[in-house]
Amino acid sequence: MTTDTQPRAQWLGRWGFVLAATGSAVGLGNIWKFPYITGEFGGGAFVLVYLACILAVGIPVMMTEIAFGRRGRGSPVDAVRRVVRESGGGSAWSLLGWMAMLCGFMILCFYAVVAGWSFSYLWKMLTGAFAGATGDDMVGIFMANNANPLNLGFWSTLVVVVTMLIVGKGVQAGIERSVSWMMPGMVVMLAILILYGAFSGGFGEAWRFLFSFNAGSLSSEGMLAALGHAFFTLSLASGAILTYGSYLPARASISRTTLSVAAADTLVALMAGLAIFPIIFANGMSPGEGPGLIFMSLPLAFQAMPLGTLFGILFFVMLSMAALTSSISMVEATVSWLTDNKGVSRRTAAWGTGIVLWVVSTLAMLSFNVAADWTLAGRHFFDWLDYLTSRWMMPLGGLGVALLAGFVLKSELMRDELGLSPRWYALWLFAVRYLAPLGILVIFVDALGIARVEFGLHWRWLLGLLALLTLVGELASPRLRRALMG
Ligand code: PHE
Repeated sequence: MTTDTQPRAQWLGRWGFVLAATGSAVGLGNIWKFPYITGEFGGGAFVLVYLACILAVGIPVMMTEIAFGRRGRGSPVDAVRRVVRESGGGSAWSLLGWMAMLCGFMILCFYAVVAGWSFSYLWKMLTGAFAGATGDDMVGIFMANNANPLNLGFWSTLVVVVTMLIVGKGVQAGIERSVSWMMPGMVVMLAILILYGAFSGGFGEAWRFLFSFNAGSLSSEGMLAALGHAFFTLSLASGAILTYGSYLPARASISRTTLSVAAADTLVALMAGLAIFPIIFANGMSPGEGPGLIFMSLPLAFQAMPLGTLFGILFFVMLSMAALTSSISMVEATVSWLTDNKGVSRRTAAWGTGIVLWVVSTLAMLSFNVAADWTLAGRHFFDWLDYLTSRWMMPLGGLGVALLAGFVLKSELMRDELGLSPRWYALWLFAVRYLAPLGILVIFVDALGIARVEFGLHWRWLLGLLALLTLVGELASPRLRRALMG
């Protein structure tokens, strides 16, 4: 069965796509990861680089993925195959679709564990498990929560089941309906938390920490982390945005929707920082605490404040919802591929995917207890999933998407889909041809240990390289196109 016989599902409401894509983008990445890496890499300078990466790489790649989805009207595998075929390219490019689908699936396998932390902390807040706990107790609680596989497994299983229940209901009745109340609810909760933070006494310090640019704290590692996080936080190269784009009505403007999603995502990350850091500073804690930042220090801080339990509950409800609206987008690609190609119903596809997902995520969950010693090259299974997806598959996928759109596809195709004015189109083309690929290559060069990229010193070199690449690329582009046709 293919979608040719049956019109593909589409978002029902005007806001359907924006809400769902924002729901996908806004997640643990914004509320858990962004504050803690910002803390680790020193604040304002990191934030500035992150914003630049969103603008220069994230937004152009996101537009491209949505355009692929809408033009190809299918899962990443089918959509990429169709757009490439339309331009006379080879079938090898559909590997890009396979990798994206696999990447979304792999991310969910470890994401379910972190989302499970959030669910279990909500439960702990509700049952008063943190009452009277000290800082050391918090570390102990976090470790104890991980140590028992039945406990931790219960929560990650719950995440998988709820995700599959929503996805199994379909694009409109499941995904669109759930995000249409979870997203506004989340924003309200976040706003309340910021107000709360504003009165906690640490707001000014938090503001300075996030927004004062101190070039001295710029490290090459921080800049690489900023670029990697731009991919993760916008849900790129993992099939999520592309598949959601395949349900986008033909009239919707891709550039406008992309800008709304990216702006909302960035805003929520900054808001999360403004909600979390005041509490941290007001309680004399360090912002550079690492992944435990929200799970170890926040509950402690909440305990010490008036109405803290109530706000703690609010916080973990919000975090759990943010995680769910992201997790549903990670499997939508696989479910859509199964229903389009294997003639199974959406429900069957969802539960089939769910079972495999449950097995793999359980293995990831065991990395925190039973299988903590099963490491390969110093990483356990959970870390491998995270490392492979965010360090390799997402940047590689992003590179592929950018080169495919920039050099291989017929230019009318993207021009049609994007509907940009000539000047914006030229800017987009420059971004996908040169800016994004160079940025991504820099990550790889650093990741492979070929060279440490010291941006602080080498930015002139990088600009020069960009100019050179642009010159050579523009001269050679017909030839490049032929070479990349595959
Ligand atoms: N963007 C999500 C977040 O910030 C994570 C995500 C990655 C979602 C890949 C979908 C696909 O938490």
